[in-house]
Amino acid sequence: MKLKAVAAGYGRRVVLRRVDFELAEGECCAVLGENGAGKTTLFKVIMGLIHPYRGEVEVFGRRMDSRHTRQWVRRQIGYVPQAGSDGRLPIPVQDAVLLGRWGTSFAGFKRPTAEDRRIVWETLELLGLRELASADCRELSGGQKQRVAIARAIVRKPRLLLLDEPTTYLDASARDSLPDVLAAIRRELGLSMLVISHGADNLQQVSDRAVVLKEGVLEPA
Ligand SMILES: Nc1ncnc2c1ncn2[C@@H]1O[C@H](COP(=O)(O)OP(=O)(O)O)[C@@H](O)[C@H]1O
Ligand SMILES: [Mg+2]
Repeated sequence: MKLKAVAAGYGRRVVLRRVDFELAEGECCAVLGENGAGKTTLFKVIMGLIHPYRGEVEVFGRRMDSRHTRQWVRRQIGYVPQAGSDGRLPIPVQDAVLLGRWGTSFAGFKRPTAEDRRIVWETLELLGLRELASADCRELSGGQKQRVAIARAIVRKPRLLLLDEPTTYLDASARDSLPDVLAAIRRELGLSMLVISHGADNLQQVSDRAVVLKEGVLEPA
């Protein structure tokens, strides 16, 4: 993934002034920066949800310059949004995770296949959610909900995983175990990762390096 001299924002509100960044396949990088620095905006640019004013965005060797490419790129990316709205679904954990495969092998009137079920089961295993497979999502702890959100993002077998402040609403024990969870995902799926960290967490432990977003520019941390 490569960003070259990217400027982006919302209308006249410039958030990213000039961002240069490169992430190698399989690499994991932590993104630091104060509240409002533009970290989530950076993710939106990478997913093609915001079109930069200037500069180039290239993901997996493709430049995001057409609607078709942006759609393709989005399918290669697993996104775990900042917590809050998630986890209120009145459905079992395994179904919530299965929803992540919607639009891959099943969609519309197609039904999930045995393969879909197998991938969901493997993912539950990987994230230590197997015992909770039949539990109602609404009854989970913050840490468990977070794992469900991560599971839902990775059942699509993305090549890049974006995690937006995954530790924010976690209790201490869930926060402390998150690096191990992410390390296991890296090991099993061999994907690249960008993880937004608020600095006081231990996410740099799983990262190969860290960058900081400051005044619209990305620098080594
Ligand atoms: N949809 C939007 N419309 C206008 N301004 C926005 C929007 N989303 C975010 N912003 C502004 O962009 C800046 C960066 O936001 P954001 O990327 O969410 O920062 P961070 O994730 O680092 O906290 C903030 O000043 C925020 O108010
Ligand atoms: Mg944010």
